[in-house]
Amino acid sequence: MIVRQTRTLPQPHLFINLLLLRFSTTESTHPQLASFSSSSPVNPAHLLRVCTILYQQQNSPEPRLHSSLRASEFQLTHEFFLQVCNSFPYSWRPVYRFFEFTQSDPHFRHSSVSFNKMLDVIGRSRNIDLFWGVLNEMGRRRLVNDKSFRIALRTLAGARELNKCVELFHAMNGYGFGYSLGSLNKGVETLCGNRLVDEAKFLVFKLKDWIRPDGVTYRCLIQGFCDVGNLIEASKMWNLMVDEGFEPEIDAVEKMMETLFKMNRYDEALKLFQAMRFKRMGDLGLSTYRLVIRWMCKRDKVSQAYVVFEEMHKRRIQADNLTLGSLVYGLLARGRVSEAYKVVEGIEKPDISVFHGLIKGLLRLRRASEATQVFREMINRGCEPIMHTYIMLLQGHLGKRGRKGSDPLVNFDTIFVGGLVKAGKLLEATEYVERTMKRGLEVPRFDYNKFLHHYSNEEGVVMFEEVGKKLREVGLVDLADIFQRYGEKMATRDRRRNRAIDS
Ligand SMILES: *[C@@H]1O[C@H](CO)[C@@H](O)[C@H](O)[C@H]1NC(C)=O
Repeated sequence: MIVRQTRTLPQPHLFINLLLLRFSTTESTHPQLASFSSSSPVNPAHLLRVCTILYQQQNSPEPRLHSSLRASEFQLTHEFFLQVCNSFPYSWRPVYRFFEFTQSDPHFRHSSVSFNKMLDVIGRSRNIDLFWGVLNEMGRRRLVNDKSFRIALRTLAGARELNKCVELFHAMNGYGFGYSLGSLNKGVETLCGNRLVDEAKFLVFKLKDWIRPDGVTYRCLIQGFCDVGNLIEASKMWNLMVDEGFEPEIDAVEKMMETLFKMNRYDEALKLFQAMRFKRMGDLGLSTYRLVIRWMCKRDKVSQAYVVFEEMHKRRIQADNLTLGSLVYGLLARGRVSEAYKVVEGIEKPDISVFHGLIKGLLRLRRASEATQVFREMINRGCEPIMHTYIMLLQGHLGKRGRKGSDPLVNFDTIFVGGLVKAGKLLEATEYVERTMKRGLEVPRFDYNKFLHHYSNEEGVVMFEEVGKKLREVGLVDLADIFQRYGEKMATRDRRRNRAIDS
């Protein structure tokens, strides 16, 4: 029905196509959206007509635009307004002009939701003057909420309008939204989450006389600077926080430690850990121990990890599966195989992280066959492998860049490159073929993840079954088991998921 309509429209514009795309996904594949629109019915044909008018006449004089809109048959509802906003996610003009039109209807009432929606569109199209005007209008109508603050700060900071970020708090105070630490912290969190941590810091410091930052504010800033890899600023925030009498929250401590570990500043990370042990032993819990043990094992320092583990044990903190998994990997990485198995045997009900530690460690020791035995064992014990398990094992057997076998039926090219061709990825396939022909040619690593995802379907069930059989025939039982299990489980799981979406 919708398709037929576009044909009758003269010169369909780009946005109309986008709109159609939106409709068709609404109706077929997104169950939530579909049920949403059926519970508050917006007639798609009416929406399309109104959006067409708004798009085509967005520069027309107001009386003309309004009379066109009035002449077009549609029911103006709150939901209708939201959907108009959705149709123009990056264009302020049609949305704002529609807003002006709604103002001429005495029965129509805007809410914080509709204003925020429009505010977001105007922000995304970077019309800062209008944005600021609308924000003030929202203030006057007392329709500002936390979400408005978040949209405002993200937009203004993103547009480098830092003084306006500060002004926002003063302006809102004028409308009766008093200075609040809660709003500031939510704003800081939003900015840091959008990698706008310098902007967040500016805001906090400029508002200091009105809103005194607390431990949460500093924690957000510390985490924000850690996330962008700026350890110097993170440390400055840390010291400032301590100077102001706030004890660093454990989250902040862990973030700092983790960043130090990640940036290969192992000794400094440990110094921080030691300081915590010395001064705040009572605050050290499982999460910090888990973090430290994980990194020690990652960096092949399993003896150190054991010391920490023992302390944890003495303090009656129960290790979890993740910590034990790290330890198992750490032991294997140092070749302490039997100890690693002993740890696993001591766990009553190991979960996937323990098995992964075992598999990863064994693969590092180039014991792919033994790792596959662990894979079988985990299945026997009711622990279903996930995508990551398969990728690790395939890389362990075939190498990160694939392997050329002696039997053309079962070698890497047939299975994977053949698969790529089938998937229509000719260019990628050609690159891998070239690599196997002329070694040394730079091609990307084979993407097992993409490959497996592509075959998580009916075709995959058949393909992996076939491949499994061939591999078994030539004695590659490990690979055969891995592929067949993948075909049976992942593909059917995906199929079930798809069916659930379709219904
Ligand atoms: C490991 O995970 C399993 C499964 O979730 C759970 O039953 C078991 O208690 C966990 N073990 C530890 C040591 O946390």
